[in-house]
Amino acid sequence: MTKRTLIVGNWKMHLNTSQASLLLHRLQERIRISRDIEVVLAPSMLVLQPLSLQIDRRKFRLASQNAFHKDDGAYTGEVSFTMLRDLVHYAIIGHSERRIYFGEDHSMIRDKVAACVRNEITPILCVGETQTERRQGETRQVLHDQIATALHNLTAKEVENICIAYEPVWAISTFGGILAKPDEAEKEMKFIRDQVRRLFGEKAAKRVRVLYGGSVDDQIVRGYLEIEDCDGVLVGGASINYHKFSGIVDAAYSLQREKEA
Ligand code: PGA
Repeated sequence: MTKRTLIVGNWKMHLNTSQASLLLHRLQERIRISRDIEVVLAPSMLVLQPLSLQIDRRKFRLASQNAFHKDDGAYTGEVSFTMLRDLVHYAIIGHSERRIYFGEDHSMIRDKVAACVRNEITPILCVGETQTERRQGETRQVLHDQIATALHNLTAKEVENICIAYEPVWAISTFGGILAKPDEAEKEMKFIRDQVRRLFGEKAAKRVRVLYGGSVDDQIVRGYLEIEDCDGVLVGGASINYHKFSGIVDAAYSLQREKEA
C-alpha cells in the first residue's frame, strides 16, 4: 500500500474568518485534486465551521489544532473531539507550543490521542526535543518517552493509522527556527519509526505516517520530502502565505511525478 504524501498547514492563532475564507478560496483555485497528495488545513477553532462549508473535500481535509480530551461535560471554555468529529479528519496533538505555553504534559497528551482515536479523528502527534535537551544528548530519550506515553492506550491496529510529526523544538520558527538539515531530521525520523516497530510491531511501523516540521517552506521542502522515512510535512509560518504554501504543494507534486516517471 503506498501512502499519500501529507502536507499539513498549521495556521496557529492567525487569520480571522474572512482572512481564512479568502486564503482557502485562493488555495482552492490553485491546488489540484491528487490521488497521491493529501493537503490538510488546520485553521483556528473559530474558523473550522465556516471553512467546512466552503471547502472542496476532494482537495482538502481539515484538522483541529487542539481540543479537550473529555467527550462532554462541565469544562468551561473547552471544545471536545466529539464535537469536532464531523468537521475534521485530523487533529494536531502535543504541539510544542501547547507543551511549552499551556503546560500539556505526557498524560494530557496521551488522553488527547486516545480521545481522537475514540472519536475517529486521526491524531498528528508532535514530538521533538528542545535545544537544551539536544545539547545534553537527550534527544532519543525524549522522543522515546513522548512516543511511548502518548501511544500507551492504543492498539497496534490503531497506531497504523496515526501520524507522528518530528518537530525539533529548536527548528520551529516560534522557538528560534534553526534549520534541522534533512540528514539530521532523517536520523530521528528513522528512530521514531524504529520505536513504533519496537512497541507495536512491523506492520504499524510500516503504516504509521512520519512527518517533518520546523521552518519548512517552499524553498527547502523538497529536501525533507526526499527522505525515505518522511511521509509529509507539517508547516507553520509558511502555511498562511499563499505563494509559499502552494509552492510546497507544487514541490510535492513534482517529486511524485519524478518518482512515477
Ligand atoms: P514553523 O512551525 O513552520 O513556523 O516552524 C511548524 C509548526 O509549528 O508546526
